[in-house]
Parts: sequence; C-alpha cells; structure tokens
Amino acid sequence: MAIVSKIIDGKMYAGKLLEEIYPLSKGFFDNFNRKPSLTVIIVGDNPASKIYVKNKILIANKYGIDSKEIILASDVSEDKLIKHISTLNRDENVDGILVQLPLPKHISEKKIINIINPSKDVDGFHPTNFGKLFMGDSKFIPCTPLGCLYMLKHEIEDIKGKNAVIIGRSNIVGKPMASLLLSSDCSVTITHSRTKNIQEHTRKADILIVAVGIPEMIDETFIKPGAIVIDVGINRLKSKTKHNASDKGILVGDVKFENVLNTAKKITPVPGGVGPMTIACLMHNTVKAAYINKKHDFINILEGIL
Ligand code: GUN
Repeated sequence: MAIVSKIIDGKMYAGKLLEEIYPLSKGFFDNFNRKPSLTVIIVGDNPASKIYVKNKILIANKYGIDSKEIILASDVSEDKLIKHISTLNRDENVDGILVQLPLPKHISEKKIINIINPSKDVDGFHPTNFGKLFMGDSKFIPCTPLGCLYMLKHEIEDIKGKNAVIIGRSNIVGKPMASLLLSSDCSVTITHSRTKNIQEHTRKADILIVAVGIPEMIDETFIKPGAIVIDVGINRLKSKTKHNASDKGILVGDVKFENVLNTAKKITPVPGGVGPMTIACLMHNTVKAAYINKKHDFINILEGIL
C-alpha cells in the first residue's frame, strides 16, 4: 500500500465536518439573530494550553461561532473561577463553556467541572453528560474521542466485533473512547501505566488508540500487522536542528510514526491527525448546545457515526 494512503488525514476529515457545521451555525444566526457562542476559560500560562485555545478561537470565528477567551492568572482562587463560571451559566447568550485543562494544582478540576451547567458543557465532562454517554444516551460527547470515532467510522468498513485496545485511562480520552467503541460493538480493552505486559494486549488490537502522553513511546513491537493506529499524543520536542530564537521545536505523537507505518494498515499523523478533529467536534458540540439552549431541534450530522 502506498504510504500516503496509509495516513489518516485528520485535517481533511475536520474540514469535511466543519463544512457541515457551517450551515447550521448560519441557520442559527438567521433564526435567532445572534451567532452560537463559546466561552473558553484558560488559567495560567501553560504554553500548550495557550496554543490549543488560540486554535479553538480561530476555528470558531471562521465557522460562524462567536468566541470569547477569559484569561485568568495562575494564582486565581478557586472561588473566583467558580464565580466566572456561575456568571456564564446564567448568561443566556453563552451557549458553550469550556475550561481548558489542566488547571493549577490548587484548583479542584472535579469541583470546577461539576459547576458547569450540563447544557453548556461542550466538553462533555460533567458527570451528567459523562454518565449519559456510558448509558448510550449521550448529549455532549468529549471532543477528542468523538473525533477519533469519526475517523475510525470513515476508515473502517465494518467496525463491529473488532478488538479495540486503548492505552491510557483518562476522563478526557481513554474512558469515553472505551464507551464509544463499546457502543460501536467493538471488544474493548483499556490498558494503562500499571498494566503488565502491555504488548500482549496491544498486539491483539485491530484498532489501537494511544493516549499516554509520552513522546514516541509506541513502536512496531506494540502493533498487530494490519492494525489501525490512532495517535492522540501531542508532544513538543526541541528541534534537532541548530537552536535559534524562533525555533518552536517539533511536534511528535505518542507513536513512533515512521517505525509503525510499515506494520500498521493505517495511522494518524501528528500534527494533522486527531488535533484538528478535536477542534471540529468542539464546534459541533457548541452549535448543538446553541440549538438545545433555544429548545430547537438540532439536525444530527453525526448520523452513521453514533
Ligand atoms: N485539555 C486537553 N484536552 C482538553 C479538552 O478536550 N478539553 C479541555 N477542556 N481541556 C483539555
């Protein structure tokens, strides 16, 4: 198989989904005389978070969604953050609220996620939305696993009965990904840092989802020949070229891309794989939230995926 056809083009899929979202955000404006709106709160100056938030705001504006960024200092109190969220919860012109994670250590992520109005929880992290997802009655699905599922459903003719193995058990990726794959009739295994002989599991995977946060940890020894590999990791490494002031380093995933390319049937690249899909799914959830908050039907453009 030619190398290019082995690469799952997340940027292309994100573009396709965003083109479907745009008429819905325009339609919302025509009906309600304002754009769907998203407010992103960022606490502190984690460089990776700043880049993710900047990209979310850029794409929102491009696709007819009003976006606002609230930047808070890293030493902001938990109470002050809660007050910001409560104000946004009450504001009927705010459809989606996203608090960028991770938060500084003195703030409880659990407490903050619990405060967000579940109808504005475009991340799908609130226990109400998380629980609904696991009961097969989802409203807002976490964006990264939703984006992974979107690509898998387009790349695999029949996903039913496939062995899916996930590396990583986070609430953002691993656990919701497991629920989505289970609902898609896969047999699902979650592995994590305490799993013994991880390769024994991963070598049986028809679908391997990697979300460990360790640069290039996964090489071909983890891969079953012919597997579909989804690399969720985004790690910034110092560039190997001579350092200069504008050198932003290079992005790599959790998978050794070149090494795994031969063994796998298909693989997502970093950048250009999962990242753009996460943002497209956030736009989907925001426009959905806007329609729901106006008690208006939302056309299910993810039919066939969910
Ligand atoms: N940090 C890394 N991924 C995410 C995400 O999908 N949502 C939020 N809120 N924070 C993140």
